[in-house]
Amino acid sequence: MSSYLSALHALTPDPLLDMMARAGADMRAEKIDVSVGVYRNDAGVTPVMDAVREAERRLAAGQATKAYEGQRGNTDFCAAIERFCLGDDLRADLGERLVSYATPGGCGALWAGMAVARRALPDGRVWISAPTWINHRHIAAAAGFEALEYRYWDPASQTLDFDGFVASLTRARAGDIVILQGPCHNPTGADLTDAQWLQLAAVFEERALIAFLDIAYHGFGAEPEADLFGPRLFMERQSEFFVSYSCSKNFGLYRERAGCLLAVCDDRRAANRTALHIADATRAVYSMPPAHGQAVVNAILTNPGLRRTWSEELTAMRRQIEEARRGLHRALTQMMNTRSFSFLTDQKGMFSILPLRDGAGARLRERRAVYMPGSGRINFAALNNSNIERFAEALAGELAD
Ligand SMILES: Cc1ncc(COP(=O)(O)O)c(C=O)c1O
Repeated sequence: MSSYLSALHALTPDPLLDMMARAGADMRAEKIDVSVGVYRNDAGVTPVMDAVREAERRLAAGQATKAYEGQRGNTDFCAAIERFCLGDDLRADLGERLVSYATPGGCGALWAGMAVARRALPDGRVWISAPTWINHRHIAAAAGFEALEYRYWDPASQTLDFDGFVASLTRARAGDIVILQGPCHNPTGADLTDAQWLQLAAVFEERALIAFLDIAYHGFGAEPEADLFGPRLFMERQSEFFVSYSCSKNFGLYRERAGCLLAVCDDRRAANRTALHIADATRAVYSMPPAHGQAVVNAILTNPGLRRTWSEELTAMRRQIEEARRGLHRALTQMMNTRSFSFLTDQKGMFSILPLRDGAGARLRERRAVYMPGSGRINFAALNNSNIERFAEALAGELAD
């Protein structure tokens, strides 16, 4: 019998997931894994948050059925995310122009939004930041889009290149989709200022571009309200846009796949059509979103006590990351006092990019049991008092000039 599957062309595994597996298998006691994109506490554990545990306990006690919820998933969850993400004022202004669907994580929302956008914009392209999270290109391709890159990052100064960003968008055509991250850009940690969000809104309007805001780290840059101030200034000025909202990081619900797609349309008719297309596209792929994580998030956001507990836990995570940023800044500045590492403390969220020499990723892994991708992206949540000095020391000699 012939082997049909052997005809598949060869693929390489996702490099980050592959590195995660390799780090897991490395038994050296001094191992430091800054590659993986999940939060870890001081003990190196990705914990179940107390608010989540309590919400789960209550849900388990009160759950009466496992019947299907329907294609939008948990509609209370959808409303809670609309409020949390857009704020009450913008949500009220949008009224029936707003559509929301629960999705399997932020990835599900990105895919569903792009799949529907593809139906509306057969000649459109998707623009992603250079660099960006690796899955953006992958999801755009899965939805049938060609992905083009806009300049975002200046590797020489380790800062955002806003003028370069705007200049890239002059190459975009009307009806192109532009993925914007906010807050806590992955992988650079460099976010737009409020003034830049406003400037960008004018560019989008002038060039008739469609924004796809990817919000995956809400609350990691600042208190949740403040963290979305700039993106909301931008959203208020757009007539049509998508938002993918991930609850994986800020609720620590990675494996539960809790996310939400918001689509804002020109009018009610377009919103109704968009809703039917989201339902149609997702029906063929996963039919309905998972329920558990969405129920947990809804319970937390709508119960004042649980919300307070969760908010304190989120603040503690953010402070730990800020402390790790200061710690690495201190350690590297002591070692190399002729260089400025201020970008480490200026940037936000779990990630920054360190300028590494060629081949540093493999050398650090083999000689120092340090796992980080060759791109130099590090996750600060993996650094703590017990490993930060060792990490800085391992970097010595591996940082590019
Ligand atoms: C920028 C960005 N967007 C979206 C996601 C989606 O996350 P998930 O599908 O796990 O909710 C991630 C996760 O790493 C991310 O970094």
